[in-house]
Amino acid sequence: MGKEEALRFAKEGATVVLTDIAFDAVKSVEEEVKQSGGKALAIKHDVSSKEGWEKVVNETVDAFGRLDILVNNAGISLAKPFMEQTEQDWARTYNININSVMYGMQYAVPQMEKNDGGSIVNISSISALIGMAGAGAYTASKGAVRSITKAAAVDFGKKNIRVNSVHPGYIVTPMSAKSMEEYKDYFLSQVALPNLGNAEEVSNAVLFLASDEASHITGIELPVDGGVTAK
Ligand SMILES: NC(=O)c1ccc[n+]([C@@H]2O[C@H](COP(=O)([O-])OP(=O)(O)OC[C@H]3O[C@@H](n4cnc5c(N)ncnc54)[C@H](O)[C@@H]3O)[C@@H](O)[C@H]2O)c1
Repeated sequence: MGKEEALRFAKEGATVVLTDIAFDAVKSVEEEVKQSGGKALAIKHDVSSKEGWEKVVNETVDAFGRLDILVNNAGISLAKPFMEQTEQDWARTYNININSVMYGMQYAVPQMEKNDGGSIVNISSISALIGMAGAGAYTASKGAVRSITKAAAVDFGKKNIRVNSVHPGYIVTPMSAKSMEEYKDYFLSQVALPNLGNAEEVSNAVLFLASDEASHITGIELPVDGGVTAK
């Protein structure tokens, strides 16, 4: 999803900084954006590291002079029966899925203030809206992403910084591909539309919330789920 978001933003003329713990993955997206005439910079980054965030935001401002949009997309999923989830599972899931969002906003907001505004889009999940089997820690972490988004929207609204969350449903990506294939009939039975979603469809929603077209929208939770949560 992060790749599609970066490509979609670049297509609209944004300069994109891509970060991932898997550097090769973002480096190849940097090349793709540059080949199409856009501006991009890939940085290796563990989102669960507060120091890492400081470095990434500083490098962004050094390279491009400003920071207007933050998309907190990186995440891990953990499918494990509720009673088997350990303290380590819980801590790792929280560090990567929610602590990262807090750190990212703490470092990005002061830069956005310098520009008299900005937009933050946090990628949560439909699991923040409905209970999902075998995903207690993941569900809790994504619920926290939903809540911190609303708290930040209220805290930073007067600074003209908007903060919204996107809640993907059953989207075919590397994270989900295996289970999507294995349980395809089940997932298709859950969506109201005929198909499962793809990363490009999520990126369109992220782009809208990040853009000036969403200038009066803050603190919302936008499902991109083909109608799963409408049922
Ligand atoms: N795929 C779905 O159906 C689905 C549904 C709901 C929500 N989401 C959420 O959407 C986001 C993107 O998911 P995806 O399906 O593209 O997953 P993905 O596994 O394809 O991509 C996630 C990326 O995060 C990176 N990452 C993992 N740990 C990291 C860390 N510590 N620091 C930096 N990067 C790290 C991975 O290297 C990977 O490139 C996640 O937050 C996920 O929870 C996905």
